[in-house]
Amino acid sequence: MSKVHIFDHPLIQHKLSIMRDKNTGCKEFRELLDEISMLMVYEVTRDFPTADVEIETPITPMKTKMLAGKPIGIIPILRAGLGMVDGILELIPNAKVGHIGLYRDPETLKPVEYYCKLPEDAEHRQLIVLDPMLATGGSASAAITFIKERGCHNIRLVNLIAAPEGIAAVQAAHPDVDIYVAACDEKLNEHGYIVPGLGDAGDRLFGTK
Ligand code: PRP
Ligand code: URA
Repeated sequence: MSKVHIFDHPLIQHKLSIMRDKNTGCKEFRELLDEISMLMVYEVTRDFPTADVEIETPITPMKTKMLAGKPIGIIPILRAGLGMVDGILELIPNAKVGHIGLYRDPETLKPVEYYCKLPEDAEHRQLIVLDPMLATGGSASAAITFIKERGCHNIRLVNLIAAPEGIAAVQAAHPDVDIYVAACDEKLNEHGYIVPGLGDAGDRLFGTK
């Protein structure tokens, strides 16, 4: 069974509370998602392997550590996952970026795929899938399935807010994928929205409603 990591860092919780507020506008919402994504990826990468390297400081040669694991790929689920990309690239500027386009059919709540473009060497990368909302888990599970069908196996899922139902669905479908969230909320409502949640992440990010 995969692990669920919940980030209770005060900075993340403070920023998330502002994002949840219905009076927070598009610009501030976008900036906060950017900042939280940066703070989250700092923890998501905490156990990435390093290796000793020899360098010379202006004073003396020394042995020090640098990242030594697989190169990193980040895969936002369109649309709302796009809002997490820039914050992560600030910290991991060499990461390649793939995109998966999915939307949730409002009637069936089932994910519909409309786009998938991954880095050519995605199967050799440590992949981080991004989506602010993990509601029923249908979108994230489908996205991870598409990625695995392309031969990839080292996958972590990063969400801002998850519902217990979404976590259970991803864990059942993908027991090898660890999940990293800033908050696990109470439940889903009858329309599949997370309660209390923050509403429709894509609409709040892009101002479409
Ligand atoms: C939202 C969200 C997730 C999905 C979560 O996207 O960004 O991708 O819903 O719901 P699920 O866990 O029940 O699948 P949406 O389908 O609204 O598409 P959008 O990003 O294009 O707005
Ligand atoms: N998608 C969202 O954007 N918000 C939710 O609460 C559920 C799915």
